[in-house]
Amino acid sequence: MIIGVPKEIKNNENRIALTPAGAAELVKHGHEVYVQAGGGMGSGFQDEAYIGAGAKMLPTIEDVYGIAEMIIKVKEPIEEEYKLIKEGQILYTYFHFASCEPLTHAMIANKSICLAYETVELPDRSLPLLVPMSEVAGRMSIQEGAKYLEKTYGGYGVLLGGVAGVLPAKVLIIGGGIVGTEAAKMAAGLGADVTIMDVSLKRLRYLDDIMPANVKTMMSNEFNIREMVKSHDVIIGAVLIPGAKAPHLVTRDMLSTMKPGTVLVDVAVDQGGCFETTKATTHADPTYVIDHVLHYCVANMPGAVPRTSTIALTNATLPYAIEIAGKGWKQACIDNEPLRKGLNVVDGKVVYKGVAEAFDLPYESVETVL
Ligand SMILES: NC(=O)c1ccc[n+]([C@@H]2O[C@H](COP(=O)([O-])OP(=O)(O)OC[C@H]3O[C@@H](n4cnc5c(N)ncnc54)[C@H](O)[C@@H]3O)[C@@H](O)[C@H]2O)c1
Repeated sequence: MIIGVPKEIKNNENRIALTPAGAAELVKHGHEVYVQAGGGMGSGFQDEAYIGAGAKMLPTIEDVYGIAEMIIKVKEPIEEEYKLIKEGQILYTYFHFASCEPLTHAMIANKSICLAYETVELPDRSLPLLVPMSEVAGRMSIQEGAKYLEKTYGGYGVLLGGVAGVLPAKVLIIGGGIVGTEAAKMAAGLGADVTIMDVSLKRLRYLDDIMPANVKTMMSNEFNIREMVKSHDVIIGAVLIPGAKAPHLVTRDMLSTMKPGTVLVDVAVDQGGCFETTKATTHADPTYVIDHVLHYCVANMPGAVPRTSTIALTNATLPYAIEIAGKGWKQACIDNEPLRKGLNVVDGKVVYKGVAEAFDLPYESVETVL
């Protein structure tokens, strides 16, 4: 198959959908890989590395879309790209259709085959192509929390791990899924006094088993949260209720009970946030203060570490890309149920229920296109 990897043109997006190592794998499987010149620069991959892996470089985005049977991307196509997409072209990328009606209509109109990373789903209902970004954001949340605890950034002025004779900082993590677990591991590694809260007792039992001694678990409920926020230095929001807005677990009135300079990091900001006072921020201006409490609410945290994020993402997407390229999208989706769940819009039909419902569009079951 002919595979195209364009440079991402969405504002501030420095990731690329394929590493040189990934390109080498696809070439080894007999495919032709075309990468837009300079596309890997934001992630620290030079054109020469792709050429060394057997890929060919093309100068413009038009060339890449023009030649490819399958486009592999990171972010959803933006308006400038709509006109470049051809009928029957496979687009394998994050789409998040339900949050963008014009994108949905454009992909219906151009009759492309849209395989969305975010809806590829394993039998245990986990989302393997979202996990890597949660891992990155979870680990990063502690790095950011530790930084903003410093006095010069407006924080309380404590070192996460303390030193001999001085107690470590206290970190509260609300939500013990992927983000929460990775955050806990990082905070524990730095020597902080960590508590993870979740509503799932099963999950808390598991975390209690695997975490080091400086990580404790606690049931998440309003009473406990109200009590815990008074004494903690960093509070990480990491809850997810699939398909719903995040609940406001830390309310505005709780802020006045916190220490001045407490740092709140709301990783769940992309689902509306789990703190009542959360407002989405950007890497350019990541924090704001309410009631002497510092808020960090960047909606695309992995964007700050594009090299790590690119490699983590492609580790997860590549096996599916190899299957699609080897068998064609139809056979790959017939054979691979998790991948089939990634089909959202195919040949002008909406085959993912959530997308059809979001915009009141006709829905066709995925079997009708296979
Ligand atoms: N800001 C970013 O850059 C970024 C990046 C990746 C993920 N995220 C977001 O981070 C959030 C967490 O993602 P995840 O992959 O860890 O999800 P996950 O499904 O792995 O974990 C969510 C956890 O929240 C728990 N939970 C639900 N309700 C709760 C409550 N009331 N109190 C405490 N815990 C509760 C669940 O039991 C689950 O264990 C999501 O909103 C995701 O979209 C943001």
